[in-house]
Formats: sequence, C-alpha cells, structure tokens
Amino acid sequence: MPTSRHDRARDQVLEDHLHRLHAVDGVLSWVADEQRRARALRDHAIREAAEAGLSLRQIGGALGLSAQGVRSTLPGTPAVYDQIGTTYAQTRQPDPQIQSAIWAALEGARTVVNVGAGTGSYEPPETLLAVEPSMVMVAQRPPGLAPAAVTTADRIPLPDHSVDAALCSLTIHHWPDLEAGLAEVRRVARRAVIFTWDQSVARDFWLIRDYLPEYADADDHRAIPIDRLCDLLGTTDVRTVPVPRDCTDGFLGAFWARPEAYLDPIIRAGISGFAQLDTPTTERGLTHLLEDLRTRTWHRRHAALLKRTELDLGYRLIVADWSSD
Ligand SMILES: C[S@@+](CC[C@H](N)C(=O)[O-])C[C@H]1O[C@@H](n2cnc3c(N)ncnc32)[C@H](O)[C@@H]1O
Repeated sequence: MPTSRHDRARDQVLEDHLHRLHAVDGVLSWVADEQRRARALRDHAIREAAEAGLSLRQIGGALGLSAQGVRSTLPGTPAVYDQIGTTYAQTRQPDPQIQSAIWAALEGARTVVNVGAGTGSYEPPETLLAVEPSMVMVAQRPPGLAPAAVTTADRIPLPDHSVDAALCSLTIHHWPDLEAGLAEVRRVARRAVIFTWDQSVARDFWLIRDYLPEYADADDHRAIPIDRLCDLLGTTDVRTVPVPRDCTDGFLGAFWARPEAYLDPIIRAGISGFAQLDTPTTERGLTHLLEDLRTRTWHRRHAALLKRTELDLGYRLIVADWSSD
C-alpha cells in the first residue's frame, strides 16, 4: 500500500528522534569511559608519586586544587552536609551492584519516599518525594528526580501510611534523634529499606585496623548496632551487601582494592567519617599507608585480597515490612 506524505513525514520525525537518542547515548557512554579512565589515571599517578617520594601533603595539595564543589548561598543555620557535601556528586556515584540489592528490597513498591536522600543515589523511579536537610546536597540532584523537601527525617511532610516504602541509604547515623526519625518513617510508610553498616564487622577493614584505629573509635559512637536497629524496626531481615572491587560509590569501604584513592583529599571529602578526625590524626595514619604503598608492604600483606572481586566490609540492608500492621 502506498504511504501518504503525512506518514512519511511522521516516520522522518521518529527517525530524527531515534538518531538524537543514539547521539546522546554515544556522548553519555563517552563521558562514562572518560571518567573511568581519569580515575585509573589518578590512581596510577598517586602510586607513582608515592613511589617517587612525594609526601601526603604534596599529593593532597596538588589534587585538592582541582576540587570544584557546590556551595550553599542560603542564609540560616547550615546542615552538616552544607559543609561536608560540597563535592559529593563527584565521588559518590551510585554503584550498580549495590543499587540492584537496594532495588530488589524495594521490589513491588509503587510509591517511595527517599529519606536523607542526598544527591539522589539509589533513588528508584517510583520515588514521590526526597527528604533532605542540606541545600548543598539538593543542589547536586540531577534533573528529573523526585522533588526534594528540605527537612529532616523526624518531620516527613507526608500523611500517615501514604507510601509503600521508605528508603534510607547511609543516612540514619546522621540523625540526631534516631527513634523520632524511625517513628516518622513507620508513620508514613508500609516498608522500610535501610542501607547501613555493622560496625562490629567494619572495624576490621584494613584501612581502619592498620592505619586509622581512631576512625573506628569515632564510628563506634555514631554507628547504630544492627540488633538495636532490628528491635526498633521490628524485623530480623538483615542482608549482606558486599562491596564490589570497582565500587563507584566512594564511601569508606569503596576503595578496599584501590588503596591509593584514600590519599586523595577529594575522595576523603566525600566520606563523612573523615570529618570526625583531626588533621594530624588523618595525616599520621595516611602517611603510614603511603609508606607501605611506597615499599609495597601493603601489596605483600594484601596479595590474597587483590584476587577478590567483592568483599564483605559490614554494609547491610535492613528490611522491615509493616504492611500487615
Ligand atoms: C552519606 S549521605 C547519603 C545520601 C544518599 N542517601 C546516598 O546514599 O548517597 C547522608 C545524608 O543524610 C542527610 N541527613 C543528615 N541528617 C539528617 C536528618 N536528620 N534527617 C534526614 N537526613 C539527614 C545528609 O544531609 C546527607 O545528605
């Protein structure tokens, strides 16, 4: 059957859209490749600088100059992350493997609130609202994500039982009143998916155990014991979330197989635990690491670790289902 001029014009429009989508896809994958290459280049450059004898301060000073963080211009009392979150989006990209685990726990939820949402990592498409107290973090949310309410977990602006699930990813240790925040989560949601860590396991991470024991002492105070969390939520569903070797979300354990990354001040700026330590303590511990990298002591000690593709560093998902309440 002969096609009309109208059909041909419509086909042409569809063809143009397809062409544009392919072009955008090409640019996005090019950017992703370039980012990967730049990260590998950074690790290599740090390794060589360490071996050549540069000090921690020299390495940090050189890399720190390239930091281009987002800063809040709002008046009023800034949230903690208005200070420590300025470079978050640079180093804390959601990791695909961890995202799969979180989204599996959210399976079936048609409406979600993301509490302590930050820049939107791990936020599923079903999210109706993000709750986030820091404007600096909100400013780094990519376009197209759910709207953000600038408030805290203990004041979620939603009616009772209004969403299928609440996601709380790497945030509960920041809440000044954990019980009030969790009560709000239970008030608005029928399920909670909480990504956090088990400090009794995390304490044994080589970075902390061998170089920064003070970090563990500080984290002992802010980490929520898993048993307490399970009691508060009324659940026993605790799932291990191993950290992949090339984890793209630069939290504390992300670089277990890439030790040079901890010498980069921009990486450390994206890890809130470092803000708990004073500069001399961090410098002492990381100078020790630098020395062990230079002499390859670290590589000899961790030869077995370097063969692994993922590692349990204590990260856990706690899932509470209150649908029958
Ligand atoms: C480590 S970031 C995690 C962000 C994001 N959920 C993620 O997985 O990347 C912790 C977030 O918790 C937020 N936060 C701190 N105190 C909070 C509170 N009382 N209520 C809700 N969120 C809070 C911080 O502003 C920050 O964005």
